[in-house]
This record gives sequence, C-alpha cells and structure tokens, in this order.
Amino acid sequence: MKNVSYIKEDKIILKDISLQVEEGDFITIVGASGSGKSTMLKLFSHLISPTSGEILYRGRDMMSYDPVLLRREISYCVQSGGLFGRTAEDNLAFPYEIRGLEMDREAVAALLSKFGLGQDVLKEENRSLSGGEKQRVALARTLLLKPAVVLLDEVTSALDQENTRIVEDVIRQLNDGGTTILWITHSPEQSRRLGSKLLTVENGEIRSLEVLR
Ligand SMILES: Nc1ncnc2c1ncn2[C@@H]1O[C@H](COP(=O)(O)OP(=O)(O)OP(=O)(O)O)[C@@H](O)[C@H]1O
Ligand SMILES: [Mg+2]
Repeated sequence: MKNVSYIKEDKIILKDISLQVEEGDFITIVGASGSGKSTMLKLFSHLISPTSGEILYRGRDMMSYDPVLLRREISYCVQSGGLFGRTAEDNLAFPYEIRGLEMDREAVAALLSKFGLGQDVLKEENRSLSGGEKQRVALARTLLLKPAVVLLDEVTSALDQENTRIVEDVIRQLNDGGTTILWITHSPEQSRRLGSKLLTVENGEIRSLEVLR
C-alpha cells in the first residue's frame, strides 16, 4: 500500500497507510475495535478500492488485474465467516469453480477432517451449522488450492482451544510452504506467538510494525 486512504460517507476510515508486505510474511494485525483492520484486508483483497493512494500486487497496480485471477491468488476469510450459497458444499466447490476445475472430493474431505469435520457437513445447510462449524467451512474454502496470499479476519473467534490450535497449525504449515499470511486477531498472545511481524492499527493509522522473528 502506498499512501492509501479510505473515506466512506465523509468519515476517514484509513489515513495515508503505507505498508510493504513481503512474500512469505506472517503478519498478525491487532488494534481496537473500529480501528480499520477489516477495511485494510478488504482493500488488500480488492473488495473495495482506495479513495486515494495505490495498492500494488507483485509490483503492478491491483486495479489492473483480472478480478478472477486475483481471487485465485489472494484469498480472504471474512470476519463473520460469510458463507454463501445454500450448503457447505456450495462454498467448498467455489475455489474449484473459479479455476474451472471439478471439486476434488478427496482434498476437501482431507482438509475438513483436519479441522475436525466429517464429510457429512457438505450437505448441511449453511444456516444449520454452528458458529464454529461455519468458521471452519469458510476457512477450508479460503485455504483449498493454496492461494499465494491468505487474509484471515478473526477466524478462530468462535473456536474452542483445540480447534484453534489445529487451525493455527494448518496456517503455520502453509506459511512454512511460502504462503503469505495476514491475520487479524484480538488476542495479543496469539499475535505474538504466530506472527513474524506484528502490525498495530490505531484510529485508521499504522501505529507500529514490529519484527518478531
Ligand atoms: N461500509 C462502511 N460504511 C461506513 N463506515 C464503515 C464502513 N465499513 C467500515 N466502517 C467504519 O470504519 C471503521 C473501521 O471499521 P473496520 O471494520 O475496519 O474495523 P475493525 O478494526 O476491523 O474493527 P473490529 O475489531 O470491530 O472488527 C469503523 O468505525 C466502521 O464503523
Ligand atoms: Mg474487523
């Protein structure tokens, strides 16, 4: 991001943000509620566009990319889980659809099982899933087919300790394999334990970017 500001209804939500994310980074993002964290990830996933400033991806203006190509490269798991369609399967087929592929049922089953979910969840209606189940289905949708960049918005907030650990391990392994991770969390402990860099956002501005390791 180069001098990015985002203004909505006369309100300055992000102010002159400049941030360089390196390939392979694991950046954890913390900051008070309403400070602008989710807005930052929405900008990085091109769900919204900056009011001013620019966002480059691999050195090229993000706006110049084909949006479908960008969806394959940069995958965003939104704060509320955000399932779409009718069933869990609709969500898990999506990463394949945008690549023009058939859903790989074995790969889906393997990832679900890592997250402690059986294949029976596929036929479940979204609305009949628990908060934690929704969160894990959304996460599986985000991680299938290994995107280059994964943006996570409080993805363990509805999970118990054991499932949180499992999710953390899966994300860490992805990062070990070279995937760039940006992870918003409200847990200071989690942010320091997982991140290689810690970004603190305050009132729409970057307060600090700490290198942890
Ligand atoms: N579409 C919008 N229209 C108007 N205001 C918005 C919009 N999106 C976000 N905001 C405002 O921008 C500010 C930052 O919101 P954002 O969701 O980025 O915060 P956050 O840091 O993710 O907070 P939380 O920790 O509660 O998720 C808030 O004051 C919010 O009300
Ligand atoms: Mg948020």
